[in-house]
Parts: sequence; structure tokens; C-alpha cells
Amino acid sequence: MKPLLALVAGARPNFMKIAPVLRAIDDMKPGFAPVLVHTGQHYSPELSDIFFTQLGIPAPDVHLEVGSGLHGEQTARILEAFEAFLLGSSPRVAGVMVVGDVNSTVAAALAAAKLRIPVIHLEAGLRSFDRRMPEEINRLATDAISDLLLVSEPAGETNLRNEGVPESRIRYVGNVMIDTLAHHLRSAPAVANRDPFALVTLHRPSNVDSRETLAAIVGFLGRIAQRLRVVFPAHPRTAGKLREFGLLESVAARGIELIPPQGYIENLGLMRTATVVLTDSGGIQEETSYLSVPCLTLRENTERPSTVSAGSNTLVGLDFGKAAGLIDDILAGRYKKSQAIPGWDGCAARRVVTVVNGFLESASCFTAAT
Ligand code: UD1
Repeated sequence: MKPLLALVAGARPNFMKIAPVLRAIDDMKPGFAPVLVHTGQHYSPELSDIFFTQLGIPAPDVHLEVGSGLHGEQTARILEAFEAFLLGSSPRVAGVMVVGDVNSTVAAALAAAKLRIPVIHLEAGLRSFDRRMPEEINRLATDAISDLLLVSEPAGETNLRNEGVPESRIRYVGNVMIDTLAHHLRSAPAVANRDPFALVTLHRPSNVDSRETLAAIVGFLGRIAQRLRVVFPAHPRTAGKLREFGLLESVAARGIELIPPQGYIENLGLMRTATVVLTDSGGIQEETSYLSVPCLTLRENTERPSTVSAGSNTLVGLDFGKAAGLIDDILAGRYKKSQAIPGWDGCAARRVVTVVNGFLESASCFTAAT
């Protein structure tokens, strides 16, 4: 029997990273076999099931069903449940792959590292240098205890070297999320109504958890809505905050089109057709860069700097004057165009499988010898 690699996915942005890796394993028939573990961090059909269906991800082999909670609570539940899975698995899991920077990522990495099971982090080395972001803590902690660091963004290698990570643990593989995008681009129809529109996605605590900030953003979106349609698929966290802060009426009165969270294909259709995307998502900064669709990011920093230096992204924070000026440039056709970013080419997952195969081979020799 082949050695087992547990692949851990838990939240929406994990699913598009795990899908191409599973497909490449299926195609390439490496010397290991995958076990897909869903932590259940995201459980709503629109944040989870639809991605499995649309991206052709097989049903998880194991579902930990942890659900929502405070950060410590949720992380602890995943840690406990994933440790129990690892201890109970026969034969013993030979390696654990975690992806991205969500609570599921750090919790699963910690459980595996304590059991001395080699940890592979896919999308390692990203740093916003802003420890107010929960994801930054997750990235730092995960990279510190991972044995193999698979890097998606050129700055990631520099960050890891600066932190003293030995060269032997770092591999630049490129961006698996772009594999998913390239694979599905043809099946994502452009939106039929060709009126120019702004696509908005927001869910970061820094933008949506304070009434004052969220109300200011709604006011700004209202000013954009006077010039072009504003389509706003709202994450459950954001929809909940708009309701809690009594801002839903203001959204409707300003003509902002609030819609439910979209499936992968529907969102890709919206993104590729949009005149401009306003977001605080990490993944959307990358996807718009690949598509060369102008992206204004409502954050002060990004852990994906090549989307700014080579891609179509500009950081605007909450500087609405700057954002409005850039929308003028976009509408006048004066905004920058994207250049290619190394390894964002649709073939990253195949490189991942090749590197992981070699790594697990040497890791199992090492385990056998000690
Ligand atoms: C998580 C990730 C974030 C990622 C985002 C994408 C962490 C720290 N954050 O943030 O990096 O960009 O996912 O969506 O891991 N909820 C539902 N249904 C669900 C899951 C959540 O309604 O299936 C609601 C719950 O009210 C929950 C809230 O959304 O409390 C937040 O969910 P949570 O997973 O804690 O964080 P996200 O904001 O989704």
C-alpha cells in the first residue's frame, strides 16, 4: 500500500488550492495516496459544498465537523479532532499537507508536528507584516513548524530566507489557485449584461467589524453606484455585520446590489467581466492579476506584493479619494495592465506533486532509519 498524504482543507479559500493538487495526483499517480480531510471550519452550502461540486473535488475521506467559534476555540477543536484522526489512522499517515493561512491550516500543522509527522505548507512564506491579521499569525506559526515550504509568490522565498529558514526546506512551485482559475476559465460565462460594474467583496474584521468603518465603506460604494453598477456578494460575516449595524437600508437606498456569496464559477464570471474589483481578499488580488482586471484592495498592506508590482492590484486602504481617482483612470482606460508572474501558469500543482513525492520518499527513508 502507498504511504498516505493527508490533505487538509477547511475554509472557502482552501478548496480552490486543494482541487488542482488532487487532480494532479490522480493524473500523475505518484508514490503516495491522498486522504482528504475537511475540518468543517466552513460548513454552509454556499461556502463549502458548492466548491466541492463545481471544482470536482471528491467527497472528503474524513470530516471533522468543527464549525464556527472564537479563534482559540475553533483552532483548539480542529487540533483535538485532527490529532485523534492522525492517532487513529492505520497505516500511520506519512505526511500532512496544509494550505493557505486559515485557522484549519495552523491547527492541523500543529497536531501533525507534535506527532512528528512531516508537515508540508502549500502557499508558504507570505507575510503582510501586520500581526493584527489573524491570518498573519497563522502563516508565521505554520511556517515555523513545517518541514517543507512550498512557495507561491516571489516575495515568499525572500521572507523565509530572511527568517533564517534553510534553503533545503524551501521550494518555489508557483500558484495552484491560478491552476484552478485557468482550468475553469472557459466554463465561467461572462456576465450577460455588459453594463460596466464594480464587483465588491469584503470580509476582513478590520473592514467589517466596526460600524464606523463599514458605514464609511457603504457611503463610498454609494458614490461609486452613481457612476456604475455595484455588485456586492456578501460573505455571511459581512451580511451579519450589515444587519447588526442597521446598514442594510442604507445599502439598498444607495443602489448597491447585495447578493448572496457566489459559487466559484459564478464569481469567476463576475470577476472576469467586472470593470473594477474592490476587495480585501488575498485570493482575489491574485485572480484579478492573472485576469488583468483592475483591482483596488481596501487594505493597508498585502502579503502578495507581486500583485501590486506586476499585477493589476493597487492598495487603497480606506483612502476613498485615491480609490475614486483610480476608478477615473480605469474608466478612461489609463490603468496599468498585468505582467506575467513566475509560476502562475496553470502547472503549479504538477510541480507540487513532483516535489512532495521526492520529499515523502526521503522522509520515509529517514523515518525507517531512526
Ligand atoms: C475565514 C478565514 C479567512 C478567509 C475566509 C474566507 C481564518 C482566521 N479566517 O474567515 O482567512 O479569508 O475564511 O471566507 O481562518 N459562517 C457561516 N457559514 C460558514 C462559516 C462561517 O455562516 O460555513 C459565519 C459564521 O457566523 C462565522 C463567520 O461566518 O462565525 C466567520 O467564519 P470564520 O470561519 O470564523 O471566519 P471567516 O471570516 O470566514
